[in-house]
Amino acid sequence: MEPGDRIAVEDPCYGPPRHLFKSLGIHVVGVPVDREGLLVEALPRGVRAVYVTPSHQYPLSVTMTLPRRQALLAWAERNNAAIIEDDYDSEFRFADRPLEPLQTLDTRGRVVYVGSFSKTMLPTLRLGFLVTPPSLRLALHKAKFVSDWHSSTLGQAALARFIDEGAFARHIRRVSAIYRERHQILADAITRDFAEHLELSRRQRGSTLPLWLADCPWTR
Ligand SMILES: Cc1ncc(COP(=O)(O)O)c(C=O)c1O
Repeated sequence: MEPGDRIAVEDPCYGPPRHLFKSLGIHVVGVPVDREGLLVEALPRGVRAVYVTPSHQYPLSVTMTLPRRQALLAWAERNNAAIIEDDYDSEFRFADRPLEPLQTLDTRGRVVYVGSFSKTMLPTLRLGFLVTPPSLRLALHKAKFVSDWHSSTLGQAALARFIDEGAFARHIRRVSAIYRERHQILADAITRDFAEHLELSRRQRGSTLPLWLADCPWTR
């Protein structure tokens, strides 16, 4: 993307990507989110890319439905646009089973899938990963090289071994049980002690716990 290009983000949206796009001179356009996820029909013309969090929308925790995912992929194909799928917290899902990521539904090479080890391991690792269409790989290698050369090789090697030996999968199972319990304790305490001021959203997915303030103007 070039300065002056337009990117669509969910409204409301996670702050850091929004700030990053703006710092690169890209025009950021907010697109509303309803109970099914990003409103594809509200995407404006001339947008070159869309940044979305389909597993559980940040911060509303809506899961993008399958029809909406298919509509977004079809829209990207019609408009020659890319989709950045931030699947940041999908390993933790306490209420129901995850849907297929956009990336696996994509047959046209429109989706850049972004994953992070910040939630599953720890944020100070600063390790994440991308699954990109082949056409973007060279450009991404170059972008990584000019931004910080490379991530910690020692950290990557240790994490790769942790994953290969099955320890990562065991770790996710173990911490999921702990986080589920903590999630429930927190939800119960909010319901019990703060019911006058706060209402828990019915959408409780991942490690996020969305709340509505009393008299909040947002649609629930
Ligand atoms: C929507 C969203 N994306 C990504 C991340 C993870 O970012 P990073 O991998 O840079 O720590 C977070 C962390 O809170 C998040 O909320």
